[in-house]
Parts: sequence; C-alpha cells; structure tokens
Amino acid sequence: MMNFTLRQLRIFEAVARHLSYTHAAQELHLTQPAVSMQIKQLEELVGLPLLEQIGKRTFLTQAGQEMYHYCRTIASQVDEARMVLNEMKGLKHGRLNITVASTANYFIPKILASFCARYPGVTVNLDVTNREVLLKKLESNETDLAIMGQPPPELPLKASAFMTNPLVIIAAPDHRLAGKSRIPLAALKDETFIMREEGSGTRIATERFFAERGVTLTSHMEMSSNEGIKQAVQAGLGLGLLSVHTLEMELQLKRLVILMVAGFPIPRNWYAVHAEGKRFSTVAQAFLDFIIKESPKLIKPPVM
Ligand code: PGA
Repeated sequence: MMNFTLRQLRIFEAVARHLSYTHAAQELHLTQPAVSMQIKQLEELVGLPLLEQIGKRTFLTQAGQEMYHYCRTIASQVDEARMVLNEMKGLKHGRLNITVASTANYFIPKILASFCARYPGVTVNLDVTNREVLLKKLESNETDLAIMGQPPPELPLKASAFMTNPLVIIAAPDHRLAGKSRIPLAALKDETFIMREEGSGTRIATERFFAERGVTLTSHMEMSSNEGIKQAVQAGLGLGLLSVHTLEMELQLKRLVILMVAGFPIPRNWYAVHAEGKRFSTVAQAFLDFIIKESPKLIKPPVM
C-alpha cells in the first residue's frame, strides 16, 4: 500500500515545480531538512527514487515525472473541491441584501421565490425604493446588488442588462383614444399625464423621450407609486406612462388599456447593478448569476 499523504504530495509538487528543495521550503514556510525528510519518506512509500541530484542540480527521475503529473491533477482537484464546498457552506447560511426599484418589485418576488427554492438556507433582505435612493445605497455600499433601469454611466458601477422593460401609455378602457391605432404623439398634447415622482427611473425616461421629440406634457398630478397611478388612470383622471411589468393584472381584467401611440413602447432594459470592485458574497454572486440566466425564462411580460 502506498499510504502517502496529501501533505507529502503538496511538498513533492513544490520541489518538482521549482526543482529546488530550498525554494520549495521557502514557498511552504518549512525548513529545508523538513522538506528533504518528507521527500525521502515519500520515495520510501513509492519504492522508487523521484528526484536525483547531479552536481548541485536537482532533476526529476522518470517516476518523479509521472508523480509530478498526478500531483498537479490531484492538487487542482483538491482546490476545486474546497472551493465548491465553501460555496455550499456560504449558500447554506448566506444572507442576500438586495435593493430594487419599486417598478422592479412587480417581478422580483417571482425570481426570489425560485432562487430561495433552489437555496433554501438563504435569508433575503429586500428593500424597495426608487432609483435615486437606490443609487445612493449603491454609493454608500449599503446593498449587495440593485435591480434598476440603466444607471448613469459616469458612476463607478457595473451593470448587467438581463431583461427588457418596455414603457407604455395606459388609459381607462373608455378613453377617447382607446382602441385607436397609430395615434400620433401630437394627439397627446391636450391630455393630462399622471407622472411618477422626481427621482423615479420611469419618470426620467418619460421626460427624456418627450423632450427629445419636442413635446411638452401637461401634468397636474404626481404620484410616488405605480399602484397609485394605475388607480388614478382607471378612475379617468388622465393617462399614465408605466412599465408593462406593472400591468399584468389590470390588462388581464381589462381595467386598463395600452394606447397604440407612434414611437411606443419606449425600449428600456432592467439591469443588475453593483459597485465596481465590490467583493461579492457567495450568495450575492449566486443571485447575480441566477437572475441573468433564469429571469428571461421566469418572467414573461404581458402581451401587448
Ligand atoms: P422606478 O423604476 O424608479 O421608476 O420605480 C426603476 C427604473 O426604471 O430605473
């Protein structure tokens, strides 16, 4: 039986790589006699010389070359096993801190449910806020990961797009423009819009879209939630401009309709965002990978 130990293999691997007992000893923080002793014991266990000394130089024997080949494979397998097990440990008791834009919270629970079913030990701390607050949280390192619209390019953030986020104009079903096709933008100039609050990503995208086309919107009403806007639009207070992800139920129940306005929907994307250089926990990394891979399969935006 060749009962050599992992430690002996590690020492042999270092000597074989450096072809030097002294350098191997330095790398492993051992004395040179301790290294020589381990190699000698290993050679006895193997029953063949692994290294030979010619003059001042050390060479691998043929058996040593074979052994070196296997040692490298074993070392990398052991490292991989350690990494995988550590990851499992991290995922067993990990905590995920995520902050999502209020609009993203219409689909994030579904993704979280699927993620938590896969990693039942993970605890989730979810914060729902608007884009402006979210950017501050990223800046002050208060969150692992944020789900939001495209962040400003000048900030030191890393953003991965993972899903589309079309913005549409909604109206009550009895609105004069409901059911009409190819409505020109100009037809909206006398309409009242119920807008999201300052600092909302939806609001910024809306204002940019109309400003680029030289259209000024009339808005007498502002609300800090998508729900509020949907209720107000249903009640006939005006038109709204929201992400389709917020509309699943109202479209199904025909409480709201999407207006077919030229240039719409406004194309946007959802991004998973984190501070550049952020050292991810195993859980945060797993969630980032999960959301990029799984969300297009899990989330189907309502048919428009
Ligand atoms: P919200 O949406 O801030 O309007 O909720 C997020 C975004 O679109 O960035």
